[in-house]
Amino acid sequence: MVKIAPSLLSADFSDLKGQISQVEQAGADWLHLDVMDGHFVPNITFGPLVIRSIRKLTKLPFDTHLMIENPDKYIEDFRKAGSDIITVHVEACTHLKRTIDRIKSLGALAGVSIRPATPVARLNDVLKLVDLVLIMTVNPGFGGQSFIAGSTEKIREAAEAIKHINPRIYLEVDGGIDHNTAEGVAKAGANVLVTGSYVFGSVDIGRAISKLRERTMIA
Ligand code: DX5
Ligand code: ZN
Repeated sequence: MVKIAPSLLSADFSDLKGQISQVEQAGADWLHLDVMDGHFVPNITFGPLVIRSIRKLTKLPFDTHLMIENPDKYIEDFRKAGSDIITVHVEACTHLKRTIDRIKSLGALAGVSIRPATPVARLNDVLKLVDLVLIMTVNPGFGGQSFIAGSTEKIREAAEAIKHINPRIYLEVDGGIDHNTAEGVAKAGANVLVTGSYVFGSVDIGRAISKLRERTMIA
């Protein structure tokens, strides 16, 4: 079954408690946390301090997406704050294998992500080592952007590689996922769907999550 991971980036930050409880009650599987540093991406969000304080509000696994330079420096802080999955960008890591080992040694699941301009082949070397691959389907930095059409082919390519090399890996997609795009990405092999503005921008969060689920079932 495909997992749904609402991205807190599009939530109402003046009511994080209420927003998190709404997605949890609506049956979300993970909570996706977008960490941005204003260098790797042109936007700044939140860090371990905020993650630590929302950790007590929910039992949902924290799926932390680090869009930051020099992630090695902060991995331990994010783990201590309560992140269950820590994903780094291959474009931000000088010694990717070392970074993955570090995440795993701290007891978290390790993910690697690629931007739209980075080929899937960049992941081949580490597929045996990681727990999750995150294919960005928009240029990272902001919520509410449109799904980049060519991404479906990349998802298919990644799904194929995963099937041969390490089939237990989660294949996650992030960016522009809504009731129109969910079916295509699930058909292409994605099994975790990040969704920000579609869920949090909707008047009925529960209905938005059910709709996404329906679309992935059709696929
Ligand atoms: C973008 C973030 C996404 C973002 C997705 O850089 O990584 O997780 O929140 O937002 P939507 O679903 O609105 O495209
Ligand atoms: Zn993200």
